Amino acid sequence: MSDEKPKEWRTAITSNQDGKILIRGYNLDNLIGNKSYADVCFLLLKGEMPNQAEAKMLDAILVSSIDAGIAPPSAVAARTIFSGGNSLNAAVAGGILTLGDAHGGAIEKAAKLFQDELKGKDVKNINIGETAKKIVDDALKNKKRLAGYGHKLHSIDPRTTRLLTVAKSLNFGGAYVELAVAIAEEFKNKKPEQKLPLNVDGAIGAIMSDMGLDYRLGKGLFIIARSAGLVGQVFEEWLREKPFRRLRSDLHEYDGVPERPLPQD
Ligand SMILES: CC(C)(COP(=O)(O)OP(=O)(O)OC[C@H]1O[C@@H](n2cnc3c(N)ncnc32)[C@H](O)[C@@H]1OP(=O)(O)O)[C@@H](O)C(=O)NCCC(=O)NCCS
Repeated sequence: MSDEKPKEWRTAITSNQDGKILIRGYNLDNLIGNKSYADVCFLLLKGEMPNQAEAKMLDAILVSSIDAGIAPPSAVAARTIFSGGNSLNAAVAGGILTLGDAHGGAIEKAAKLFQDELKGKDVKNINIGETAKKIVDDALKNKKRLAGYGHKLHSIDPRTTRLLTVAKSLNFGGAYVELAVAIAEEFKNKKPEQKLPLNVDGAIGAIMSDMGLDYRLGKGLFIIARSAGLVGQVFEEWLREKPFRRLRSDLHEYDGVPERPLPQD
């Protein structure tokens, strides 16, 4: 055994030595052309090659979040940064910086909520309906926003419906998904007027938990997915628009004090 001290910069993900790149021990040459991007993402993040169902599920998650149009904060920020005369990489990075508790980042918080409730417990002995009731009662009593619920546009998030169907067909509709759906039902019973459906972030948070993925990967999954969408948004801005976007005058107003004289000394 070598008594050499471990080096300061270490990784167990990829080795790049003697002209060979190995990802988790698999030669990249063999991965190229044989494995999909989702396969290798799973390998990179979890350390093992996915089975068919895991690969299909991760691919579906990435597709579900790839883009949502020009209006969300990330696309507006990315296009605005580019419009100010910055590079594509600065613009995409700026878009990613908008991802927080309300946009994309809700996946991590939702997965944490579900995993804190169920991880390591014998789910057969847990009453999912009662657990959902407790979570919703606490949220309403303490005016907490539950990550993964609600949507600016949709009263039913179409991406959730589709993802849950795919998850069920691949056997990832387990206890976490059951809990996520039960919470939405409980919101519907207690606050029907507020329309708090399980949104795509909440659905992904539940499904990734059923896939055995750590909640701390939640925002990362969204970043992996939405980076492609943001590159598309910024490239389109580059091709189609002139630099220096400015809000149209009918979209903004000044509502501060009117002009006034300087105070006299
Ligand atoms: C997505 C979101 C910003 C949409 O908000 P919105 O439809 O504009 O709703 P508002 O911010 O106007 O809130 C309306 C009411 O619903 C409540 N509410 C909204 N989302 C809630 C949630 N996730 N949990 C509990 N209550 C919620 C608000 O507290 C507010 O209650 P009040 O009227 O008693 O003050 C919001 O639902 C949210 O913050 N969700 C959690 C984060 C999330 O999942 N983001 C991913 C979006 S895909």
